[in-house]
Amino acid sequence: MIRFKEHYSLQQYNTFGIDAKARYFFEFTELEDLMVFQDSNSSFKDLPVLLLGGGSNLLFVNDFNGVVIHSNVPGIKQVNEDRNHVWLEVGAGEDWDAFVDYCVRNDFYGLENLSLIPGNVGAAPVQNIGAYGVEVQDYIDTVKGYDLQTQTEYDVSASECKFAYRNSIFKNELKNRFVVCSVVFRLDKFPEFKLNYGHLKSEVEKYGEVTAQNVRKAVIQIRESKLPDPEEFGNAGSFFKNPVVSNEEAEALKSKHELIPLYPSGDGLTKVAAGWLIEQSGWKGFREGDAGVHEKQALVLVNYGNATGQEIFQLSEKIKQSVFEKFGIELEREVNVI
Ligand code: EPU
Repeated sequence: MIRFKEHYSLQQYNTFGIDAKARYFFEFTELEDLMVFQDSNSSFKDLPVLLLGGGSNLLFVNDFNGVVIHSNVPGIKQVNEDRNHVWLEVGAGEDWDAFVDYCVRNDFYGLENLSLIPGNVGAAPVQNIGAYGVEVQDYIDTVKGYDLQTQTEYDVSASECKFAYRNSIFKNELKNRFVVCSVVFRLDKFPEFKLNYGHLKSEVEKYGEVTAQNVRKAVIQIRESKLPDPEEFGNAGSFFKNPVVSNEEAEALKSKHELIPLYPSGDGLTKVAAGWLIEQSGWKGFREGDAGVHEKQALVLVNYGNATGQEIFQLSEKIKQSVFEKFGIELEREVNVI
């Protein structure tokens, strides 16, 4: 199915709920639709392209004078199996959390810690989504899609995806060029739960035995207690990445700020909790008009109603500046500003 619109409001297509308009909007459900669209619309070829998934990781500060492509390929099918694993191919348009729920109900293990992350399956590899000690890269086998530049269909294997913390080839070399149509996941038939993050283990045990269902329940409970529901208040989850500094810099920070949360992340590097830096700079719960900083998790910026993208962006600039002045650390946005 193809849907094509002009001057189309993207308010329903971004979790910040910003009313930006796309000059052209194209939605498709099969890879072939995309090829037909590209062949028949040479007049668009010089316009910028924006690949849009569930819109849970972007902030529109202006209308988009180009072509928005929304991959809405449906379906979950098992494509392979061995003694220990199953391989599922999942359409880019499937809702991420509905897919996690499907896995938990069918005893396909691995993704339970990634419960309740907003967005679509197609965006999961782009962002390399992660939470509670798990990153999706550990369960991705192949990403399938179509390259608008070379006009070819191909697979990108997990090792070619160049996954890193909230990063991949799809945010770099293949940005706005490779349209993800489906993702093949390799999931475990026998569980190996990862419960070392924060208080996850004790939260799970509140529900009884350690099962995928209970891990999912605990993760949902933790997320709901800290993160605003985008249906209620527009937001895009963490607005900034947790900055990574050298172990020496981390030591120096620790000596000045005893309570700073630090996470060793290998290769002589340490991750610093950006939420803590922002809270310590006095921003937690701050609100100016309808743009604000969430009162329970300072890493999340919120649209309380009718904030514009510009207002949220300006707020993020002020936060960056004050964190830099206080800690000498340059925060990097996780959210894509359009
Ligand atoms: N903290 C504060 N104040 C705050 C927020 C956090 O002091 O306002 C402290 C916490 O007390 C804790 C530490 O910072 O010691 C870490 O906080 P939390 O466990 O909430 O996780 P996070 O590092 O802030 C990251 C991800 C989240 C993910 C959680 C859980 C990034 C940018 N964010 O947040 O991902 O859900 O860990 O794994 O890596 C997202 O990417 O959109 C997202 C929500």
